[in-house]
Amino acid sequence: MCVIEKITDETPTVRTLTFSDDILSKVLPGQFAMVWIPGVNELPMSVMVSEENGKAAFTVRKRGQSSTALYNLNIGDYIGVRGPYGNCFDIRNGKLLLVGGGTGLVPLLRLITHCKPSHDITLLMGAQTKEEIFFEDLSNKLLEKNQHDVVCVTEDGTYGKKGFVTDVLEDMLNQNNYDAIYTCGPELMMYKIVKLAKSKNVFVQASLERMMKCGVGICGSCCVGEDLVCKDGTVFDGEYLLKNNEFGNYHRTKSGILEKI
Ligand SMILES: Cc1cc2nc3c(=O)[nH]c(=O)nc-3n(C[C@H](O)[C@H](O)[C@H](O)COP(=O)(O)OP(=O)(O)OC[C@H]3O[C@@H](n4cnc5c(N)ncnc54)[C@H](O)[C@@H]3O)c2cc1C
Ligand code: FES
Repeated sequence: MCVIEKITDETPTVRTLTFSDDILSKVLPGQFAMVWIPGVNELPMSVMVSEENGKAAFTVRKRGQSSTALYNLNIGDYIGVRGPYGNCFDIRNGKLLLVGGGTGLVPLLRLITHCKPSHDITLLMGAQTKEEIFFEDLSNKLLEKNQHDVVCVTEDGTYGKKGFVTDVLEDMLNQNNYDAIYTCGPELMMYKIVKLAKSKNVFVQASLERMMKCGVGICGSCCVGEDLVCKDGTVFDGEYLLKNNEFGNYHRTKSGILEKI
């Protein structure tokens, strides 16, 4: 059990809850924890970096009943955490491109903290509108020892470049040579990114989300084809994912029914 020590509002619907936990403070990028909201439910969450030693955080967007209950917790409230679970990104040397949307940025920021000063890193972050952009300042701070660029893209053009992150990515891939691309965010965005990277022959990995119940490879609710996202993922090679008919096409509902994304 952990006590929430700090709450930071990132946007009108996204909050970061910080707590002390030595193990979760050191998770690998791509790993997640199962978070128990007492009396409500348990949800999978990526573990957010904290600038303080021994601390970890969850950055939660309020959506349905469970995430809203987590979002509404106060300083001093308890949550249960188990983990970390899952694999992690394979960080290549050289020039890296990180592409994230919303809370999908959480594992990418942790990836940054595992990079060497010699890495040249571009972080592309997408949102619908200006008020949904978050972690820009923190990203610049985490990247201050690297040659880097943080590029914001909004669909309505209220901040940064206007358009979809995938359009900006296409231009960037035409103008630069990257050694690897890492992505986490909405699956249709990741699907396009993986296809674009493949067309340019660039190594790409994506961190997937699926319905999770056990989090440890027992219940099967997180399957994507033959793979379990909680155990074989969350990170998969793009080339491997493109051979999986469910990636970018289907996910499973809470009762296990295959549903078009
Ligand atoms: C590995 C992983 C990491 C995640 N990291 C974050 C994060 O850092 N921040 C964040 O805000 N959210 C994260 N999520 C999503 C989060 O777990 C919930 O899915 C989301 O908060 C909505 O939950 P809800 O019950 O409030 O919504 P509901 O309205 O009940 O459900 C909305 C949708 O959320 C998804 N969902 C609901 N319950 C689960 C579950 N147990 N497992 C997976 N998906 C579910 C389903 O697609 C569902 O249709 C992550 C999910 C996974 C699998
Ligand atoms: S969540 Fe149970 S097998 Fe993955």
